[in-house]
Amino acid sequence: MNQIIIYASKYGSAKEYAFELSRRTNIEAISYKEIKTLEDYDVIIYIGSVYASHVRGLKETLKKFKIKSSQKFILVTVGLTDPNDLESMNKFYQALKTQIPENLFTDCKIVNLQGALKFKDLNFFFRFIIKRVFKSAEKKNQSTEMTQLMNNENKEINYMDFNTLDKVEKLL
Ligand SMILES: Cc1cc2nc3c(=O)[nH]c(=O)nc-3n(C[C@H](O)[C@H](O)[C@H](O)COP(=O)(O)O)c2cc1C
Repeated sequence: MNQIIIYASKYGSAKEYAFELSRRTNIEAISYKEIKTLEDYDVIIYIGSVYASHVRGLKETLKKFKIKSSQKFILVTVGLTDPNDLESMNKFYQALKTQIPENLFTDCKIVNLQGALKFKDLNFFFRFIIKRVFKSAEKKNQSTEMTQLMNNENKEINYMDFNTLDKVEKLL
């Protein structure tokens, strides 16, 4: 069976998960920017990080390459949101629906993993966004992952856990 891992990562979390999964399963991992074709694959695992509820590269990849109903598509999202936080995940899934064709959304398997974020790695734009989120959350007296980041002494959050890749392996 032909299988492929595609990753889309800005700061490395999704890429790390992709390479660890590749090491465990012997499935080749390749960046979404380097895909030439997806025709020959029976199983496609897409591991993408989440920015403002959007999975990096997903929409453009699915526009370029049509996934057939005979292909198994596994979407692995990597964000800071706790997958057990049902309210946040619900909102995320609403946004996700706009990034995936309807039939594929119904057919695909989705796994949500948690990544990492270092404030020092962020570019000016992302710092600006996070500071704004921080300020508005503070005003509303809400605690968010981003406020944790800003309050963290080392300004770093790391929820990476390779054991959670078991959830993906079980779907193969
Ligand atoms: C500007 C910005 C927006 C983000 N938005 C979300 C989000 O909507 N949901 C979420 O779960 N995580 C969000 N994150 C956290 C990233 O998804 C997380 O840090 C992830 O591990 C980054 O993956 P990467 O290192 O592969 O790029 C955001 C991070 C930044 C900097």
